[in-house]
Amino acid sequence: MHLEEFTSRAFPQAPSQAFSGSLQLGCHESTQRSWARIVSNEWRGKAHGTEDRHDTLIFRDCMATIRLHEHLRFQEAGTLRAADCGKLPMIRLMSVVGARPNFIKISPITEELKKHSDFEHRLVHSGQHYDQLLSDNFFKDLALPVPDVNLQVGSGSHAAQTAEIMKRLEPVLLDYNPQMLLVVGDVNSTIASALTAAKLGIPVAHIEAGLRSFDMTMPEEINRKLTDAISSLLFVTEQSGVDNLVKEGISPDQIFLVGNVMIDCLLRHRALAADSAILNRLGISNNGCGFRPYGVLTLHRPSNVENRGTLEGILTAVEKIARALPVFFPVHPRTRKNIEALGLQQYLSDSMDRAANGIVPLDPLGYLEFLSLNDHAQIVLTDSGGIQEETTVLGVPCLTLRENTERPATVEHGTNQIVGVNSDNIFAAAQSILRNPARPARKPPLWDGNAASRIVTVIQQYFAGV
Ligand code: UD1
Ligand code: UDP
Repeated sequence: MHLEEFTSRAFPQAPSQAFSGSLQLGCHESTQRSWARIVSNEWRGKAHGTEDRHDTLIFRDCMATIRLHEHLRFQEAGTLRAADCGKLPMIRLMSVVGARPNFIKISPITEELKKHSDFEHRLVHSGQHYDQLLSDNFFKDLALPVPDVNLQVGSGSHAAQTAEIMKRLEPVLLDYNPQMLLVVGDVNSTIASALTAAKLGIPVAHIEAGLRSFDMTMPEEINRKLTDAISSLLFVTEQSGVDNLVKEGISPDQIFLVGNVMIDCLLRHRALAADSAILNRLGISNNGCGFRPYGVLTLHRPSNVENRGTLEGILTAVEKIARALPVFFPVHPRTRKNIEALGLQQYLSDSMDRAANGIVPLDPLGYLEFLSLNDHAQIVLTDSGGIQEETTVLGVPCLTLRENTERPATVEHGTNQIVGVNSDNIFAAAQSILRNPARPARKPPLWDGNAASRIVTVIQQYFAGV
Protein backbone atom coordinates (compact mmCIF):
# COMPACT_ATOMS: atom_id res chain seq x y z
CA MET A 1 0.00 0.00 0.00
CA HIS A 2 1.38 3.40 -0.93
CA LEU A 3 1.89 5.88 1.82
CA GLU A 4 -0.06 8.68 0.16
CA GLU A 5 -3.03 6.40 -0.29
CA PHE A 6 -2.75 5.32 3.28
CA THR A 7 -2.59 8.88 4.55
CA SER A 8 -5.51 10.14 2.57
CA ARG A 9 -7.70 7.19 3.47
CA ALA A 10 -6.86 7.31 7.12
CA PHE A 11 -7.56 11.02 7.29
CA PRO A 12 -10.25 11.79 4.75
CA GLN A 13 -10.86 15.13 6.42
CA ALA A 14 -7.31 15.86 7.38
CA PRO A 15 -6.94 17.92 10.55
CA SER A 16 -4.95 21.09 10.24
CA GLN A 17 -3.20 20.56 13.59
CA ALA A 18 -0.04 18.64 14.23
CA PHE A 19 -0.22 15.30 15.91
CA SER A 20 1.57 14.66 19.13
CA GLY A 21 1.12 11.31 20.78
CA SER A 22 2.28 7.75 20.84
CA LEU A 23 1.39 4.82 18.68
CA GLN A 24 1.03 1.11 19.19
CA LEU A 25 1.72 -1.61 16.71
CA GLY A 26 0.40 -5.12 16.69
CA CYS A 27 0.10 -8.16 14.54
CA HIS A 28 -2.96 -10.38 14.11
CA GLU A 29 -2.22 -13.92 15.06
CA SER A 30 -4.71 -15.37 12.58
CA THR A 31 -3.93 -13.24 9.53
CA GLN A 32 -0.41 -12.01 10.32
CA ARG A 33 -1.45 -8.54 9.25
CA SER A 34 -0.02 -5.64 11.18
CA TRP A 35 -1.93 -2.75 12.59
CA ALA A 36 -1.13 0.58 14.16
CA ARG A 37 -3.19 2.66 16.48
CA ILE A 38 -2.82 6.10 17.96
CA VAL A 39 -3.01 5.42 21.67
CA SER A 40 -2.36 8.82 23.10
CA ASN A 41 -4.58 11.04 21.09
CA GLU A 42 -3.34 14.52 21.87
CA TRP A 43 -3.93 17.01 19.16
CA ARG A 44 -2.46 20.45 19.41
CA GLY A 45 -5.47 22.67 19.26
CA LYS A 46 -8.89 21.41 18.40
CA ALA A 47 -8.71 18.97 15.56
CA HIS A 48 -11.80 19.84 13.59
CA GLY A 49 -13.07 17.17 11.28
CA THR A 50 -11.39 14.41 13.24
CA GLU A 51 -13.41 11.60 14.65
CA ASP A 52 -12.51 8.54 16.63
CA ARG A 53 -12.44 6.46 13.55
CA HIS A 54 -9.46 8.37 12.21
CA ASP A 55 -7.46 7.32 15.21
CA THR A 56 -7.06 3.74 14.15
CA LEU A 57 -4.75 3.05 11.30
CA ILE A 58 -4.64 -0.34 9.73
CA PHE A 59 -2.14 -1.33 7.11
CA ARG A 60 -0.47 -4.34 5.76
CA ASP A 61 3.19 -3.45 5.49
CA CYS A 62 5.45 -3.93 8.44
CA MET A 63 6.38 -0.29 8.55
CA ALA A 64 4.26 2.82 8.43
CA THR A 65 4.86 6.50 8.63
CA ILE A 66 2.05 8.44 10.15
CA ARG A 67 1.65 11.80 8.48
CA LEU A 68 -0.87 14.49 8.95
CA HIS A 69 -1.83 17.55 6.99
CA GLU A 70 -0.46 20.80 8.24
CA HIS A 71 -1.46 23.74 6.07
CA LEU A 72 -1.58 21.58 2.98
CA ARG A 73 1.81 20.03 3.72
CA PHE A 74 2.27 16.58 5.14
CA GLN A 75 3.98 16.49 8.46
CA GLU A 76 5.60 13.36 9.81
CA ALA A 77 4.25 12.31 13.18
CA GLY A 78 6.06 9.05 13.70
CA THR A 79 7.58 6.04 12.01
CA LEU A 80 6.79 2.62 13.29
CA ARG A 81 7.94 -0.91 12.85
CA ALA A 82 5.77 -3.92 13.42
CA ALA A 83 8.63 -5.62 15.20
CA ASP A 84 7.48 -4.26 18.57
CA CYS A 85 4.17 -6.03 18.42
CA GLY A 86 1.83 -5.38 21.29
CA LYS A 87 -1.42 -6.86 22.45
CA LEU A 88 -4.47 -5.94 20.40
CA PRO A 89 -6.09 -3.16 22.40
CA MET A 90 -9.60 -3.18 20.98
CA ILE A 91 -11.85 -5.63 19.25
CA ARG A 92 -12.44 -4.33 15.78
CA LEU A 93 -15.85 -5.18 14.40
CA MET A 94 -17.38 -4.33 11.07
CA SER A 95 -21.04 -4.64 10.11
CA VAL A 96 -22.48 -4.59 6.62
CA VAL A 97 -26.04 -3.51 5.96
CA GLY A 98 -27.78 -2.96 2.66
CA ALA A 99 -31.56 -3.13 2.69
CA ARG A 100 -34.38 -1.57 4.74
CA PRO A 101 -34.79 -4.35 7.33
CA ASN A 102 -31.00 -4.48 7.83
CA PHE A 103 -30.93 -0.89 9.04
CA ILE A 104 -33.55 -1.71 11.67
CA LYS A 105 -31.75 -4.86 12.83
CA ILE A 106 -28.33 -3.23 13.16
CA SER A 107 -29.65 -0.26 15.13
CA PRO A 108 -29.77 -1.95 18.59
CA ILE A 109 -26.37 -3.52 17.92
CA THR A 110 -24.70 -0.18 17.17
CA GLU A 111 -26.31 1.29 20.29
CA GLU A 112 -25.10 -1.60 22.44
CA LEU A 113 -21.57 -1.54 21.06
CA LYS A 114 -21.29 2.15 21.92
CA LYS A 115 -21.62 1.20 25.60
CA HIS A 116 -18.51 -0.99 25.47
CA SER A 117 -15.10 0.60 25.20
CA ASP A 118 -13.50 -2.72 24.21
CA PHE A 119 -15.09 -2.54 20.75
CA GLU A 120 -14.41 -0.39 17.77
CA HIS A 121 -17.19 -0.71 15.24
CA ARG A 122 -17.37 0.34 11.63
CA LEU A 123 -20.52 0.34 9.58
CA VAL A 124 -20.57 -0.38 5.86
CA HIS A 125 -23.62 0.29 3.66
CA SER A 126 -23.62 -1.84 0.53
CA GLY A 127 -25.94 0.54 -1.31
CA GLN A 128 -28.41 -2.23 -2.17
CA HIS A 129 -31.22 0.11 -1.09
CA TYR A 130 -30.37 3.69 -2.00
CA ASP A 131 -33.63 5.67 -2.29
CA GLN A 132 -34.09 8.14 0.51
CA LEU A 133 -37.38 6.45 1.40
CA LEU A 134 -35.74 3.04 1.79
CA SER A 135 -32.41 4.10 3.24
CA ASP A 136 -31.62 7.64 4.49
CA ASN A 137 -34.93 8.00 6.29
CA PHE A 138 -34.12 4.91 8.37
CA PHE A 139 -30.71 6.27 9.31
CA LYS A 140 -32.46 9.44 10.46
CA ASP A 141 -35.35 7.80 12.32
CA LEU A 142 -33.05 5.36 14.07
CA ALA A 143 -30.21 7.86 14.63
CA LEU A 144 -27.81 5.41 13.01
CA PRO A 145 -24.23 6.58 12.49
CA VAL A 146 -23.33 7.70 8.99
CA PRO A 147 -21.79 4.61 7.38
CA ASP A 148 -17.99 4.68 7.33
CA VAL A 149 -18.13 3.36 3.79
CA ASN A 150 -20.91 3.17 1.21
CA LEU A 151 -20.19 0.65 -1.53
CA GLN A 152 -22.94 2.16 -3.72
CA VAL A 153 -23.68 -1.05 -5.57
CA GLY A 154 -27.28 -0.13 -6.45
CA SER A 155 -29.73 -2.53 -8.07
CA GLY A 156 -28.98 -5.41 -10.38
CA SER A 157 -29.60 -9.08 -10.98
CA HIS A 158 -28.86 -11.35 -8.05
CA ALA A 159 -25.52 -12.41 -9.49
CA ALA A 160 -24.49 -8.89 -10.49
CA GLN A 161 -25.48 -7.35 -7.16
CA THR A 162 -23.90 -10.10 -5.07
CA ALA A 163 -20.69 -10.07 -7.08
CA GLU A 164 -20.43 -6.28 -7.03
CA ILE A 165 -20.81 -6.16 -3.25
CA MET A 166 -18.07 -8.78 -2.91
CA LYS A 167 -15.71 -6.94 -5.24
CA ARG A 168 -16.22 -3.61 -3.50
CA LEU A 169 -16.18 -4.96 0.04
CA GLU A 170 -12.97 -6.97 -0.22
CA PRO A 171 -10.58 -3.96 -0.20
CA VAL A 172 -12.56 -2.39 2.65
CA LEU A 173 -12.12 -5.54 4.72
CA LEU A 174 -8.43 -5.71 3.84
CA ASP A 175 -7.93 -2.12 4.86
CA TYR A 176 -9.73 -2.23 8.16
CA ASN A 177 -9.01 -5.88 8.85
CA PRO A 178 -11.84 -6.45 11.32
CA GLN A 179 -11.61 -9.31 13.75
CA MET A 180 -15.23 -10.17 13.06
CA LEU A 181 -17.83 -9.23 10.51
CA LEU A 182 -21.44 -8.88 11.64
CA VAL A 183 -24.23 -9.50 9.15
CA VAL A 184 -27.98 -9.39 9.70
CA GLY A 185 -30.96 -10.98 8.01
CA ASP A 186 -31.16 -12.68 4.66
CA VAL A 187 -30.68 -10.18 1.85
CA ASN A 188 -28.11 -10.26 -0.93
CA SER A 189 -25.88 -7.91 1.06
CA THR A 190 -25.86 -10.47 3.87
CA ILE A 191 -24.55 -13.44 1.89
CA ALA A 192 -22.24 -11.32 -0.28
CA SER A 193 -20.45 -9.78 2.68
CA ALA A 194 -20.38 -12.99 4.74
CA LEU A 195 -18.80 -14.85 1.83
CA THR A 196 -16.21 -12.14 1.23
CA ALA A 197 -15.17 -12.10 4.88
CA ALA A 198 -15.13 -15.88 5.27
CA LYS A 199 -12.80 -16.20 2.27
CA LEU A 200 -10.42 -13.71 3.92
CA GLY A 201 -10.42 -15.77 7.10
CA ILE A 202 -12.47 -13.19 9.01
CA PRO A 203 -14.99 -14.85 11.33
CA VAL A 204 -18.62 -14.00 10.58
CA ALA A 205 -21.41 -13.52 13.10
CA HIS A 206 -24.89 -13.95 11.61
CA ILE A 207 -27.68 -12.19 13.42
CA GLU A 208 -31.07 -13.80 12.69
CA ALA A 209 -29.57 -17.16 11.81
CA GLY A 210 -31.40 -20.45 11.43
CA LEU A 211 -34.73 -19.25 10.03
CA ARG A 212 -35.98 -21.57 7.28
CA SER A 213 -39.01 -21.42 5.01
CA PHE A 214 -37.87 -24.66 3.31
CA ASP A 215 -38.74 -22.93 0.05
CA MET A 216 -35.65 -22.75 -2.14
CA THR A 217 -37.47 -20.61 -4.71
CA MET A 218 -37.11 -17.71 -2.25
CA PRO A 219 -33.80 -15.88 -2.80
CA GLU A 220 -33.72 -15.22 0.95
CA GLU A 221 -33.75 -18.95 1.76
CA ILE A 222 -30.61 -19.44 -0.32
CA ASN A 223 -29.00 -16.43 1.37
CA ARG A 224 -29.88 -17.70 4.85
CA LYS A 225 -28.62 -21.23 4.35
CA LEU A 226 -25.35 -20.19 2.79
CA THR A 227 -24.68 -17.45 5.34
CA ASP A 228 -25.30 -19.83 8.22
CA ALA A 229 -23.01 -22.45 6.71
CA ILE A 230 -20.02 -20.07 6.75
CA SER A 231 -20.69 -18.22 10.01
CA SER A 232 -18.77 -18.77 13.22
CA LEU A 233 -21.40 -17.36 15.57
CA LEU A 234 -25.08 -17.88 14.85
CA PHE A 235 -27.51 -15.67 16.75
CA VAL A 236 -31.03 -17.01 16.63
CA THR A 237 -34.39 -15.34 17.31
CA GLU A 238 -36.57 -18.38 17.99
CA GLN A 239 -36.28 -22.05 18.94
CA SER A 240 -37.13 -23.27 15.41
CA GLY A 241 -33.91 -21.61 14.24
CA VAL A 242 -31.84 -23.53 16.76
CA ASP A 243 -33.51 -26.79 15.73
CA ASN A 244 -32.91 -26.10 12.03
CA LEU A 245 -29.23 -25.35 12.54
CA VAL A 246 -28.64 -28.43 14.66
CA LYS A 247 -30.34 -30.56 11.98
CA GLU A 248 -28.01 -29.00 9.40
CA GLY A 249 -25.01 -30.15 11.41
CA ILE A 250 -23.93 -26.83 12.92
CA SER A 251 -22.22 -27.32 16.24
CA PRO A 252 -24.45 -26.31 19.18
CA ASP A 253 -21.44 -24.38 20.57
CA GLN A 254 -21.86 -21.87 17.75
CA ILE A 255 -25.61 -21.37 18.19
CA PHE A 256 -27.04 -18.75 20.58
CA LEU A 257 -30.74 -18.20 21.14
CA VAL A 258 -30.69 -14.51 22.03
CA GLY A 259 -34.05 -13.04 21.07
CA ASN A 260 -34.83 -10.61 18.32
CA VAL A 261 -33.00 -7.37 17.49
CA MET A 262 -35.93 -6.20 15.35
CA ILE A 263 -38.04 -6.34 18.49
CA ASP A 264 -35.34 -4.55 20.51
CA CYS A 265 -35.65 -1.75 17.98
CA LEU A 266 -39.44 -1.73 18.09
CA LEU A 267 -39.61 -1.60 21.89
CA ARG A 268 -37.10 1.24 21.97
CA HIS A 269 -38.96 3.31 19.41
CA ARG A 270 -42.61 2.59 20.14
CA ALA A 271 -43.16 5.61 22.36
CA LEU A 272 -41.36 7.90 19.91
CA ALA A 273 -43.44 6.49 17.05
CA ALA A 274 -46.60 7.40 18.95
CA ASP A 275 -45.66 11.07 18.43
CA SER A 276 -45.53 10.64 14.67
CA ALA A 277 -47.97 12.72 12.65
CA ILE A 278 -48.91 9.93 10.27
CA LEU A 279 -52.32 9.07 11.72
CA ASN A 280 -53.41 12.72 11.60
CA ARG A 281 -51.99 13.09 8.13
CA LEU A 282 -54.02 10.12 6.92
CA GLY A 283 -57.18 11.48 8.52
CA ILE A 284 -57.81 8.51 10.80
CA SER A 285 -57.42 10.24 14.14
CA ASN A 286 -60.81 10.71 15.81
CA ASN A 287 -60.17 14.15 17.33
CA GLY A 288 -58.08 12.74 20.12
CA CYS A 289 -60.57 9.90 20.82
CA GLY A 290 -58.83 6.91 19.26
CA PHE A 291 -58.62 6.06 15.60
CA ARG A 292 -61.00 5.05 12.86
CA PRO A 293 -60.57 1.41 11.84
CA TYR A 294 -58.14 0.77 9.02
CA GLY A 295 -55.90 -1.94 7.62
CA VAL A 296 -52.32 -1.99 6.33
CA LEU A 297 -50.96 -3.85 3.32
CA THR A 298 -47.34 -4.42 2.27
CA LEU A 299 -46.12 -6.55 -0.62
CA HIS A 300 -42.68 -6.96 -2.12
CA ARG A 301 -41.88 -10.66 -2.61
CA PRO A 302 -41.07 -11.32 -6.27
CA SER A 303 -43.37 -14.40 -6.16
CA ASN A 304 -46.30 -12.14 -5.24
CA VAL A 305 -45.65 -9.04 -7.28
CA GLU A 306 -44.09 -10.34 -10.48
CA ASN A 307 -46.86 -12.74 -11.44
CA ARG A 308 -49.98 -11.07 -12.80
CA GLY A 309 -52.42 -13.75 -11.59
CA THR A 310 -51.04 -13.77 -8.06
CA LEU A 311 -50.82 -10.00 -7.71
CA GLU A 312 -54.30 -9.47 -9.15
CA GLY A 313 -55.72 -12.18 -6.84
CA ILE A 314 -54.24 -10.46 -3.79
CA LEU A 315 -55.38 -7.00 -4.86
CA THR A 316 -58.89 -8.32 -5.62
CA ALA A 317 -59.20 -9.73 -2.10
CA VAL A 318 -57.78 -6.62 -0.44
CA GLU A 319 -59.99 -4.33 -2.52
CA LYS A 320 -63.05 -6.27 -1.23
CA ILE A 321 -61.79 -5.94 2.36
CA ALA A 322 -61.17 -2.25 1.73
CA ARG A 323 -64.85 -1.62 0.97
CA ALA A 324 -65.39 -1.69 4.75
CA LEU A 325 -62.32 0.28 5.88
CA PRO A 326 -59.37 2.03 4.23
CA VAL A 327 -56.33 -0.19 3.71
CA PHE A 328 -53.12 1.85 3.61
CA PHE A 329 -50.56 0.43 1.22
CA PRO A 330 -47.00 1.84 1.43
CA VAL A 331 -45.78 0.60 -1.94
CA HIS A 332 -42.28 -0.86 -2.30
CA PRO A 333 -40.56 0.30 -5.53
CA ARG A 334 -40.47 -3.24 -6.93
CA THR A 335 -44.23 -3.50 -6.40
CA ARG A 336 -45.02 -0.06 -7.81
CA LYS A 337 -43.11 -0.93 -10.97
CA ASN A 338 -45.03 -4.18 -11.38
CA ILE A 339 -48.45 -2.71 -10.66
CA GLU A 340 -47.78 -0.22 -13.44
CA ALA A 341 -46.26 -2.74 -15.83
CA LEU A 342 -49.11 -5.21 -15.31
CA GLY A 343 -51.77 -2.49 -15.59
CA LEU A 344 -53.32 -3.15 -12.16
CA GLN A 345 -53.62 0.48 -11.00
CA GLN A 346 -57.43 0.24 -11.03
CA TYR A 347 -57.27 -1.66 -7.73
CA LEU A 348 -55.75 1.34 -5.99
CA SER A 349 -57.87 4.22 -4.74
CA ASP A 350 -57.34 7.55 -6.48
CA SER A 351 -59.56 9.41 -4.04
CA MET A 352 -58.08 12.63 -2.71
CA ASP A 353 -59.67 11.76 0.63
CA ARG A 354 -57.01 9.48 2.01
CA ALA A 355 -59.25 8.03 4.69
CA ALA A 356 -61.95 7.05 2.21
CA ASN A 357 -62.36 3.30 1.91
CA GLY A 358 -60.32 1.49 -0.73
CA ILE A 359 -56.69 0.49 -1.08
CA VAL A 360 -54.85 3.76 -0.43
CA PRO A 361 -51.38 3.76 -2.01
CA LEU A 362 -48.61 5.60 -0.13
CA ASP A 363 -44.90 6.06 -0.63
CA PRO A 364 -42.81 3.70 1.51
CA LEU A 365 -42.96 5.05 5.06
CA GLY A 366 -40.16 5.81 7.48
CA TYR A 367 -39.65 3.51 10.45
CA LEU A 368 -41.47 5.60 13.04
CA GLU A 369 -44.44 6.40 10.82
CA PHE A 370 -44.84 2.78 9.80
CA LEU A 371 -44.58 1.58 13.39
CA SER A 372 -47.27 4.03 14.44
CA LEU A 373 -49.50 2.96 11.53
CA ASN A 374 -49.08 -0.74 12.37
CA ASP A 375 -49.62 -0.23 16.06
CA HIS A 376 -53.20 0.97 15.64
CA ALA A 377 -54.30 -1.13 12.67
CA GLN A 378 -57.26 -3.53 12.83
CA ILE A 379 -55.50 -5.88 10.46
CA VAL A 380 -52.17 -6.11 8.63
CA LEU A 381 -51.79 -8.06 5.39
CA THR A 382 -48.19 -8.62 4.34
CA ASP A 383 -45.59 -10.81 2.73
CA SER A 384 -42.80 -9.22 4.79
CA GLY A 385 -40.67 -11.20 7.20
CA GLY A 386 -40.11 -8.46 9.75
CA ILE A 387 -43.71 -7.30 9.84
CA GLN A 388 -44.87 -10.79 10.93
CA GLU A 389 -42.65 -10.34 13.97
CA GLU A 390 -43.61 -6.75 14.69
CA THR A 391 -47.37 -7.43 14.57
CA THR A 392 -46.84 -10.35 16.95
CA VAL A 393 -45.35 -8.03 19.55
CA LEU A 394 -47.86 -5.25 18.87
CA GLY A 395 -50.74 -7.71 19.17
CA VAL A 396 -52.14 -6.69 15.78
CA PRO A 397 -53.69 -9.50 13.72
CA CYS A 398 -51.50 -10.32 10.73
CA LEU A 399 -52.34 -12.28 7.60
CA THR A 400 -49.20 -13.47 5.85
CA LEU A 401 -49.81 -13.65 2.12
CA ARG A 402 -47.42 -16.53 1.52
CA GLU A 403 -47.63 -20.31 1.59
CA ASN A 404 -45.01 -20.62 4.33
CA THR A 405 -43.11 -18.71 6.97
CA GLU A 406 -39.56 -18.99 8.25
CA ARG A 407 -40.84 -17.45 11.50
CA PRO A 408 -43.19 -20.07 12.99
CA ALA A 409 -42.97 -18.48 16.45
CA THR A 410 -45.17 -15.66 15.12
CA VAL A 411 -47.91 -18.23 14.45
CA GLU A 412 -47.38 -20.32 17.59
CA HIS A 413 -47.11 -17.41 20.00
CA GLY A 414 -48.31 -14.39 18.09
CA THR A 415 -51.04 -13.03 15.90
CA ASN A 416 -49.85 -14.36 12.57
CA GLN A 417 -51.84 -16.58 10.20
CA ILE A 418 -50.31 -18.02 7.05
CA VAL A 419 -53.11 -17.55 4.61
CA GLY A 420 -51.45 -18.06 1.21
CA VAL A 421 -52.27 -16.11 -1.91
CA ASN A 422 -55.66 -17.52 -2.87
CA SER A 423 -57.99 -14.54 -3.22
CA ASP A 424 -61.04 -16.16 -1.55
CA ASN A 425 -58.96 -17.46 1.36
CA ILE A 426 -57.46 -14.03 2.01
CA PHE A 427 -60.89 -12.41 2.00
CA ALA A 428 -62.43 -15.06 4.27
CA ALA A 429 -59.57 -14.86 6.79
CA ALA A 430 -59.76 -11.06 6.87
CA GLN A 431 -63.55 -11.13 7.38
CA SER A 432 -63.09 -13.45 10.31
CA ILE A 433 -60.49 -11.16 11.92
CA LEU A 434 -62.61 -8.05 11.42
CA ARG A 435 -65.65 -9.77 12.99
CA ASN A 436 -63.81 -11.10 16.03
CA PRO A 437 -61.86 -9.07 18.56
CA ALA A 438 -58.08 -9.49 18.44
CA ARG A 439 -56.67 -12.18 20.69
CA PRO A 440 -54.06 -11.01 23.18
CA ALA A 441 -50.49 -11.20 21.92
CA ARG A 442 -47.99 -13.53 23.53
CA LYS A 443 -44.40 -12.66 22.87
CA PRO A 444 -42.06 -15.48 21.88
CA PRO A 445 -39.45 -16.21 24.56
CA LEU A 446 -36.62 -13.63 24.79
CA TRP A 447 -38.35 -11.07 22.57
CA ASP A 448 -37.87 -8.65 25.43
CA GLY A 449 -35.67 -5.88 24.06
CA ASN A 450 -32.37 -7.36 25.27
CA ALA A 451 -31.20 -9.36 22.25
CA ALA A 452 -28.43 -6.91 21.30
CA SER A 453 -27.03 -6.96 24.79
CA ARG A 454 -26.93 -10.78 24.77
CA ILE A 455 -25.24 -10.76 21.37
CA VAL A 456 -22.52 -8.36 22.49
CA THR A 457 -21.88 -10.44 25.60
CA VAL A 458 -21.39 -13.56 23.47
CA ILE A 459 -19.00 -11.71 21.18
CA GLN A 460 -16.99 -10.50 24.18
CA GLN A 461 -16.79 -14.06 25.47
CA TYR A 462 -15.70 -15.31 22.04
CA PHE A 463 -12.75 -12.91 22.05
CA ALA A 464 -11.95 -13.58 25.67
CA GLY A 465 -11.73 -17.26 24.75
CA VAL A 466 -14.45 -18.16 27.27
C1 UD1 B 1 -34.68 -6.87 -0.88
C2 UD1 B 1 -34.31 -8.26 -0.34
C3 UD1 B 1 -35.50 -8.85 0.40
C4 UD1 B 1 -35.97 -7.89 1.48
C5 UD1 B 1 -36.26 -6.53 0.88
C6 UD1 B 1 -36.60 -5.55 1.96
C7 UD1 B 1 -32.75 -9.62 -1.63
C8 UD1 B 1 -32.62 -10.72 -2.58
N1 UD1 B 1 -34.00 -9.16 -1.43
O1 UD1 B 1 -35.73 -7.04 -1.80
O2 UD1 B 1 -35.12 -10.07 1.01
O3 UD1 B 1 -37.13 -8.42 2.05
O4 UD1 B 1 -35.08 -6.05 0.19
O5 UD1 B 1 -37.29 -4.46 1.48
O6 UD1 B 1 -31.77 -9.15 -1.11
N2 UD1 B 1 -35.30 -0.28 -5.93
C9 UD1 B 1 -35.50 1.07 -5.92
N3 UD1 B 1 -34.86 1.81 -4.97
C10 UD1 B 1 -34.03 1.27 -4.06
C11 UD1 B 1 -33.82 -0.11 -4.09
C12 UD1 B 1 -34.46 -0.87 -5.03
O7 UD1 B 1 -36.24 1.60 -6.73
O8 UD1 B 1 -33.49 2.01 -3.21
C13 UD1 B 1 -36.01 -1.09 -6.95
C14 UD1 B 1 -35.12 -1.47 -8.11
O9 UD1 B 1 -35.91 -1.46 -9.25
C15 UD1 B 1 -34.73 -2.88 -7.78
C16 UD1 B 1 -35.94 -3.41 -7.05
O10 UD1 B 1 -36.45 -2.30 -6.33
O11 UD1 B 1 -34.42 -3.63 -8.92
C17 UD1 B 1 -35.62 -4.52 -6.10
O12 UD1 B 1 -34.60 -4.15 -5.17
P1 UD1 B 1 -33.70 -5.27 -4.47
O13 UD1 B 1 -32.88 -4.69 -3.41
O14 UD1 B 1 -33.01 -6.07 -5.51
O15 UD1 B 1 -34.76 -6.25 -3.85
P2 UD1 B 1 -35.99 -5.96 -2.92
O16 UD1 B 1 -37.23 -6.40 -3.60
O17 UD1 B 1 -35.93 -4.59 -2.38
N1 UDP C 1 -41.21 -0.84 7.00
C1 UDP C 1 -41.19 0.54 7.06
N2 UDP C 1 -41.88 1.25 6.13
C2 UDP C 1 -42.63 0.66 5.17
C3 UDP C 1 -42.66 -0.75 5.13
C4 UDP C 1 -41.92 -1.47 6.05
O1 UDP C 1 -40.55 1.11 7.95
O2 UDP C 1 -43.23 1.37 4.36
C5 UDP C 1 -40.42 -1.60 7.98
C6 UDP C 1 -41.19 -2.59 8.80
O3 UDP C 1 -41.68 -2.03 9.98
C7 UDP C 1 -40.17 -3.64 9.11
C8 UDP C 1 -39.25 -3.61 7.91
O4 UDP C 1 -39.50 -2.39 7.25
O5 UDP C 1 -39.43 -3.29 10.25
C9 UDP C 1 -39.53 -4.78 7.03
O6 UDP C 1 -38.93 -4.61 5.84
P1 UDP C 1 -39.39 -5.38 4.54
O7 UDP C 1 -40.80 -5.81 4.66
O8 UDP C 1 -39.03 -4.50 3.41
O9 UDP C 1 -38.39 -6.61 4.52
P2 UDP C 1 -38.42 -8.08 5.13
O10 UDP C 1 -38.66 -7.97 6.59
O11 UDP C 1 -39.50 -8.83 4.42
O12 UDP C 1 -37.11 -8.63 4.79
